Amino acid sequence: MADKRIYIFDTTLRDGEQVPGCKLNKKEKIELALQIEALGVDVLEAGFPISSPGDFDSVSEIASLVKNATVCGLSRAVEKDIEVAAEAIKHAVRPRIHTGIGTSDYHIKAKFNATQEEVLERAVKAVRHAKKFVEDIEFYAEDAGRTDNEYLARVVEAVIAAGATVVNIPDTTGYCLPHQYQEKMAYLINNVSNIDKAILSCHCHNDLGLATANSIAGVIGGARQIECTINGLGERAGNTSLEEVVMVLKQHAYMGYYTNIKTEQLNPISRSVSETMRMPVQPNKAIVGSNAFSHSSGIHQDGFLKDSQTYEIITPESVGADGSKIVLTARSGRSALAHRFQKLGYQFTRNDIDILYKKFLEVADSKKEVMEDDLHAMAKVYVPETATA
Ligand code: KIV
Ligand code: ZN
Repeated sequence: MADKRIYIFDTTLRDGEQVPGCKLNKKEKIELALQIEALGVDVLEAGFPISSPGDFDSVSEIASLVKNATVCGLSRAVEKDIEVAAEAIKHAVRPRIHTGIGTSDYHIKAKFNATQEEVLERAVKAVRHAKKFVEDIEFYAEDAGRTDNEYLARVVEAVIAAGATVVNIPDTTGYCLPHQYQEKMAYLINNVSNIDKAILSCHCHNDLGLATANSIAGVIGGARQIECTINGLGERAGNTSLEEVVMVLKQHAYMGYYTNIKTEQLNPISRSVSETMRMPVQPNKAIVGSNAFSHSSGIHQDGFLKDSQTYEIITPESVGADGSKIVLTARSGRSALAHRFQKLGYQFTRNDIDILYKKFLEVADSKKEVMEDDLHAMAKVYVPETATA
């Protein structure tokens, strides 16, 4: 079986940091970089060194401090960009330059007013130039999602011949459907003669909410690296969320794919990124949202209390979450009410719960969530002689 190790390329500090309001100072960037490294990522994209002197300094410092992950600096296919990126990462144990150019007609015509052949030439020149500084070169074909496959295959073959070790196939606008992205990867695997000399990388944006699905489809199509961010942060609707792709691969381990991510750190790092970048996580966010392990409807609560696997496919411990929660709302049932009373130390009979449940529904209908204080109040008013907290 071909190796199914999937390399995780974290771009929280580059694509994620591009989000308005998420800008980090050098100290914050370094702290997060060390936490992201400890999570077990293979590649850490530290920034875009030519974009500002501050970013250059941050990338440079991160390159000196990070010892296990590859440290990558972004550049355009422009000599000066590449030189500045090379300078910023020069102290890294494993340095990588990430350079590239737009390959879709939108980019070639509107952005560069060029031809396909001119863009191909610029791509090759950029890789050759980057190769003078480091061995590990990742090339990105921006807007590959909307690039004609035949032309894309020519570009990929040419940049690999020029020395690219990884070729990134970004769905920059989040346009592709999963089967299209999978077919694109498979097309490249089958039509690029030197594809064995590089690995293909997924870089998906979430404009249609498909970034995670597309990244997994890309892997099935033959890619071996996924570019992603903690909490799915990134331009516009964001990038592929690291915690989601890692857990999809873990949950579906029968496919044989695996990563080196320490999944029990996913919730702590999500909180850390959210706080440092001042970007709240939506409560219903998969894996790291505050409701990811909450059960509130009666049917679900009853099943969950009998066997947690009826409504949870992941354990909270495996992703470092606080634990499952039984939340009491007007949709909750008697089992949940009995469970919560029991947790508070009350020993009520089934009959007691039937009577208390009516009172509970009155309270629940008047507010969003019934809290501990409400339960104590109900217990005190109800036959206090059976309530032995
Ligand atoms: O979305 C994109 O195409 C990018 C590239 C710069 C890799 O972020
Ligand atoms: Zn991107």
